[in-house]
Amino acid sequence: MQSDSMHEWRESASYWEKHARIIRAMFAPLTRALIEEAGIHEGQTVLDVASGPGEPALTIAEAVGPSGSVTCTDAVAEMVIAAKGEARRRALTNVKFRQCEADALPFGDDSFDAAVCRFGAMFFPDPLVALRDMLRVNRPGGAVSLAVWHRSDLNPYYYAINQVTSRFVETPPAEPGAPGAFRFAEPGALASVLREAGAADVRERLLKFHIEAPITPVEFWAMRSETSGTLREKLAGLSAKERVGVAREVEESARPFFPDDRMSFPAQVLIVTGKRPT
Ligand SMILES: C[S@@+](CC[C@H](N)C(=O)[O-])C[C@H]1O[C@@H](n2cnc3c(N)ncnc32)[C@H](O)[C@@H]1O
Repeated sequence: MQSDSMHEWRESASYWEKHARIIRAMFAPLTRALIEEAGIHEGQTVLDVASGPGEPALTIAEAVGPSGSVTCTDAVAEMVIAAKGEARRRALTNVKFRQCEADALPFGDDSFDAAVCRFGAMFFPDPLVALRDMLRVNRPGGAVSLAVWHRSDLNPYYYAINQVTSRFVETPPAEPGAPGAFRFAEPGALASVLREAGAADVRERLLKFHIEAPITPVEFWAMRSETSGTLREKLAGLSAKERVGVAREVEESARPFFPDDRMSFPAQVLIVTGKRPT
């Protein structure tokens, strides 16, 4: 399937590649928490679904070491190519790459010790089918851990922008259950899908951390307005003057989160984990 949303991700790939180093730094605490929740350790064989330009797959490759391996996947070929380039730059030799969609994983049953997904599950056309497949390719007892955004009003990384853009562009509320960043923002929502998919011992952890990187408000807006397909679409409908206005206002509304001209947004993410039954 290559839907409109997949087209949007293909268009996003070069921007995700451009900002990959900053994105890796921003979400490093979340990657560490995912590794912890999935019980990933040296020597394991791990699947990362919807890796984008390579995370958390490449950090996990460092954690499992040369005696382990990671399979880095994404539905978009350009994202996988970007991830391969980054693995080469970091001299990682224990990573395999595969372009594939989450609901049709091209791997046999029992192939992995654990499977993870950071900020992907909310975009899958059919999350139940995808989670069943992630469980299937895991060995019995292997963990599936998924990170999704908690509510947008708890995440200034989003609302510092949306409170500005909503004044320039009409933004209807998202259809309940439709693919989007906050589809699984309510506690329990993704956990119930994971349970329905057949996982055992399902639990949810609320991770509070800071999204930090050495960038200014101007660089923050450049990154967000390029990497987000939703924002690109909104901005495309504005005049050049309005776009400049949005940029200035976002930089102002985000400024409190840049003490010393360095980004530090408090953030809240849900990590949902379950096991393939033994
Ligand atoms: C928000 S990005 C997250 C990328 C990366 N995991 C990260 O945390 O930086 C979402 C990724 O999901 C991928 N994606 C969207 N739908 C997918 C699907 N059905 N199957 C696999 N990947 C998908 C997109 O191509 C994109 O790379």
